[in-house]
Amino acid sequence: MAHCAQAAKPALGEGRVADYIPALAKADPSAFAMAVIDIEGDSASVGMADVCFSIQSISKVFTLSMALAQRRETLWERVGREPSGTGFNSIVQLEHEQGVPRNPLINPGAIVVTDTILSDCGGDAPAHIVSRLREAAASDRIAVSEEIAASEEKWGDRNRSLAYFMKSFDRLENDPREVLSAYFRQCAIEMTVVELARAGLHLANGGVDPLTGAAFLSRAQTNRVNALMLTCGHYDMSGDFAFRVGLPGKSGVGGGILAVAPGAASVAVWSPGLNEAGNSHAGTVALEAFSDCTGLNIFSDKRPESSAFED
Ligand code: DON
Repeated sequence: MAHCAQAAKPALGEGRVADYIPALAKADPSAFAMAVIDIEGDSASVGMADVCFSIQSISKVFTLSMALAQRRETLWERVGREPSGTGFNSIVQLEHEQGVPRNPLINPGAIVVTDTILSDCGGDAPAHIVSRLREAAASDRIAVSEEIAASEEKWGDRNRSLAYFMKSFDRLENDPREVLSAYFRQCAIEMTVVELARAGLHLANGGVDPLTGAAFLSRAQTNRVNALMLTCGHYDMSGDFAFRVGLPGKSGVGGGILAVAPGAASVAVWSPGLNEAGNSHAGTVALEAFSDCTGLNIFSDKRPESSAFED
């Protein structure tokens, strides 16, 4: 862990904090935290590991899991599973593809996923999403930041455009205003890297939390969520992330990244300076160092060394 923080140090402050949601612009670009937990429950962290940050698009992994568990294969009638090769809030492909988003990890795909949760939960979708994260992270403290949710809503014209555009193709089941309100709130959920790594642990263990036994997804569904994280989790830089880190990962414009080493561990990093695709710059460097030193890389035959967490 200390080695990863050291590797990321020169990259701190090189990226740009997201400012299209003004409440996120207050983040300190030199902040850094990282946490790992393995499927035996051994954990380690470094940096500002007790500071909460806005998980933003990382929430899309958890909403995808919820929708997949509920809708199973029929989910794929509403959203694709191909990398987009475009930015997370691009509208161009949507017209060509008749309002069916390329994948569930870009904004229009996540809006469709949240639409299904709204239909299926029979009430307060954001409360369901928060409760799912609290259970997965084993932390009752996780909550929505009202300040960030209000900022998302106020500056959410691009997301409104995406939602109404999909509605024009009759692709939403609910009123776009309700779907967007739920989507804005899920993005505004805050947690620490320790909680985020813990929340992703079941994705490293076939969908079952190895510490509590709670089953969130089947093994096949888990494989699919991980495959989508690998191929689509970093938008038009997903290939670069796979090349450098070699783990399924999902970024958020709050500067967080959740990465999963199937069969081994879950790791979360936070540093708010972003690269041009909206992914944490120093966070990616730290994860690259993590996979290099532990051997946790899905393309590698090197045997993982969990002792490397403590270096
Ligand atoms: O909808 C948005 O634009 C933000 N709430 C989330 C975008 C995001 O995190 C993209 N990730 N890198």
